[in-house]
Amino acid sequence: MARDRIVHRCTECGSVALRWSGRCPSCDAWNTLVEETVPADKGRRAATAGHAVEAPRPIADVDTAAAAPRATGLAELDRVMTGGLVPGSVTLVGGEPGIGKSTLLLQAVATMAATGIRALLVSAEESAQQVRLRAERLGALLPGLWLLSDTSLPNVLRAIADLEPDVVVVDSIQTVLDPELGSTAGTVTQVRECASQLLSVAKTSAVATVLVGHVTKDGTLAGPRVLEHVVDTVLSFEGERHHALRLLRATKHRFGPTGELGLFEMAETGLAGIADPSQLLLGDRQAGVPGGVVLPTMEGQRPLLVELQALVAPTKLPMPRRSAQGLDAKRLALLLAVIERRLHMPLAGEDVFASVAGGVRVVEPAADLALGLALASAVSGRALPPDLVACGEVGLGGEVRQVAQLPRRLAEAARLGFGRAVVPASGPGGPGGMETIRVSTLAEAVEILLARQPRDTAGPGGRPTDTAGPGGRPTSTAGPGGRPTDTAGPGGRPVHLVR
Ligand code: TYD
Ligand code: MG
Repeated sequence: MARDRIVHRCTECGSVALRWSGRCPSCDAWNTLVEETVPADKGRRAATAGHAVEAPRPIADVDTAAAAPRATGLAELDRVMTGGLVPGSVTLVGGEPGIGKSTLLLQAVATMAATGIRALLVSAEESAQQVRLRAERLGALLPGLWLLSDTSLPNVLRAIADLEPDVVVVDSIQTVLDPELGSTAGTVTQVRECASQLLSVAKTSAVATVLVGHVTKDGTLAGPRVLEHVVDTVLSFEGERHHALRLLRATKHRFGPTGELGLFEMAETGLAGIADPSQLLLGDRQAGVPGGVVLPTMEGQRPLLVELQALVAPTKLPMPRRSAQGLDAKRLALLLAVIERRLHMPLAGEDVFASVAGGVRVVEPAADLALGLALASAVSGRALPPDLVACGEVGLGGEVRQVAQLPRRLAEAARLGFGRAVVPASGPGGPGGMETIRVSTLAEAVEILLARQPRDTAGPGGRPTDTAGPGGRPTSTAGPGGRPTDTAGPGGRPVHLVR
């Protein structure tokens, strides 16, 4: 009889190395090889596990009715999952500990159970009492909702076979254990084997399966990447721990597009969907402060208004700080270089801090113009008009380029009362009633919007005089609706701002 084998497996990429070394020979990650025992009969078992025999058939004969998604009843979750959970599919929900994965899924199965769907919640992390207490708080004590607090995979599979639920949630895949494998829970072999057995049960019994997975500090799912390849949908639940805002997005989805964004707010009574995120994100904004500018960003198909903020402060550090929170550090570096070289604003002796308010992450290049204006505004100490939004990509020459979906972005800005938009010269204008300021270069935008504005007189920490919302009408020299009269064309004269 064959004997169990010892292998060394990488916890990052899942590949097997013949002998231990400090660095994985496949993915070059350090200290990721761990010893694991592979049982002698594993290969045979995995090869024959739960595969029904199926004959080929004409593609048009395939019935799609069985694959129609079932709504979870949480509108934001259904939006990201293009309708809900598909029977027989496997979804992996990743997120940092404490972000709200267990809460989200308990609420989802509870709303499903309330409509007569049979749901099984497997808690391999928390005791049955803990889950019940949470369910009580969330009003989720429903007859159709079943709970199993167990870490053993055979017990979980038996429960699925006995109960025949429509939906099963396994919280988390890193804590379930197949005793036959011999290794401890959370190892690559365990995670992969447990997931693959749950996967074959999902496919054969048409139970919609949701696996919860923890992510490491750098945002990747702990354990093997192979897990992401075998499941149908990968959702990532994100947010700043100190903010109530939670973002749900699909990074992989076999049943629809991945661009959608779901927004929740963590409250006393669980997660609440956010119907008007822009309003929430701009709620605490202080208009009229230098360095602040509103950007209409797109999250998937969803326009979202966020405030970008920049602050520059003199420093004696030989390497001044460059901090980008919620923004792409490389794009910040690019814009700082454009500002130094094309706008001739010296930044060598300054620390630069740039951030997105509210815990949102903006990485699209369409944020360039807004970020450039925020930086120029911070450097010059002049505030931008409070009813302004800015959107455009900035190239290395300082030129402002087109961005996708500009009309939708501007419509959202107009809905929230913003009266003007600074956009690429070649782009479409805003909706009726919104003044469109078309610019060819960042320098031109700075010239129109900052060089001619009065300097902010509020001292540091002082309350700015103009805190009027977007509806407030700031002074402007640009004619309403029309192209501003003085427009330095591309490659036009750089602007020297008095500091
Ligand atoms: P949890 O769902 O346990 O997170 P995860 O499963 O991702 O580790 O939620 C953790 C946090 O959410 C916890 O710190 C408390 C908070 N929370 C609320 O603020 N309100 C609530 O109603 C619930 C259930 C949790
Ligand atoms: Mg949890």
